Amino acid sequence: MSYSYFGRLEDGREVDAYRLVNDLGMEVTILNYGGIIQSMIVPTSTGRRQVVLGYASLDDYEVNPSYLGATIGRSAGRIAKGQLTIDEKCYRLHEDNKVLLHGGQYGFHQQLMDAHFVDIPFGQQLRLYFVAKEQIDGFPGDVEIEIVYQLLRRENTLKVTYWGFSHEKTYLNMTNHSYFNLSQDGKTSVGAHSLSINADRYAPIDNLSIPKPWVSVEDTPMDFRKPKRVDITLESLDEQIETANGVDHPFALDRCENVHGLVLGATLLSPDERLRLEVYTTQEHIVVYSGNFLDVGEVPSGQQFKKNQGICFETQEKPNLVNENPNRCFWTVPGAPYHEEIKYVFHSL
Ligand code: GLA
Repeated sequence: MSYSYFGRLEDGREVDAYRLVNDLGMEVTILNYGGIIQSMIVPTSTGRRQVVLGYASLDDYEVNPSYLGATIGRSAGRIAKGQLTIDEKCYRLHEDNKVLLHGGQYGFHQQLMDAHFVDIPFGQQLRLYFVAKEQIDGFPGDVEIEIVYQLLRRENTLKVTYWGFSHEKTYLNMTNHSYFNLSQDGKTSVGAHSLSINADRYAPIDNLSIPKPWVSVEDTPMDFRKPKRVDITLESLDEQIETANGVDHPFALDRCENVHGLVLGATLLSPDERLRLEVYTTQEHIVVYSGNFLDVGEVPSGQQFKKNQGICFETQEKPNLVNENPNRCFWTVPGAPYHEEIKYVFHSL
């Protein structure tokens, strides 16, 4: 493991890039700004591949219109009307009265965090820490956040663990917003990848992208129970694909009785079928986003991406469950910290 200077924020604070490596040649670079996964290089039988989209400079990440690689919090996805009620007290989270997206303007994707490396027998860890403050983002209570990235020594596996300790009842719903592209050139559309999702229900969205109740995937383009090329879905004329400009929908993962363990959420296969990614999660839901607006928004370097150049597996609780069904969602309370995990497992074929 090693780290290097990555840039300086306007207020003078330094941002560093931390590199984790394993015995097989996998390398992951993470910034202590937003806990951003800037690079993930995976060895395959045809050479090493960059499997995530990223920028080369901090200036670009300060804008980051598509949340490349970032930690999302306090709440991933959209919250209707930007408001949240806890024990009859209403919290207004954002001045935008229609929706709040990805924690809003003071979201975790732009937080500077304390960082330290830990070497453990079976891998390397980067641990990031910061305090999310009610006064800044409007969510109830100050919450101590810890994010642990762990690269296994002898498997091409990155595990991400989220912890949130709060002294007050609050809501947390965190995820990582990496865009994966497993193709050799890193540019071939996700349409040419094959995808399976372990879900027999998904949630259609309304015209503000707020999810509606679950429906069966049967006879819809969202049926990924068997592996399928993504472009079959992207090219369908379904009204939901039109509404989202692609796939941007929550899926309810099939779980056995083991409700709290990790389950396989989604599997992505590269166009040349040489590399497979499996995404495991402790969450019950996952938002799959096919990079529908990756071509929108500008960054200082001028770097551009194409629409559908990457796909995100946002393991999270269904967006807006706090308003749709508050009794069903997971509240973070003192003594019962928020604790969720994601595991990205790569297989060279
Ligand atoms: C999530 C949202 C999308 C979009 C992307 C980032 O996936 O659901 O609608 O905002 O983040 O651009």
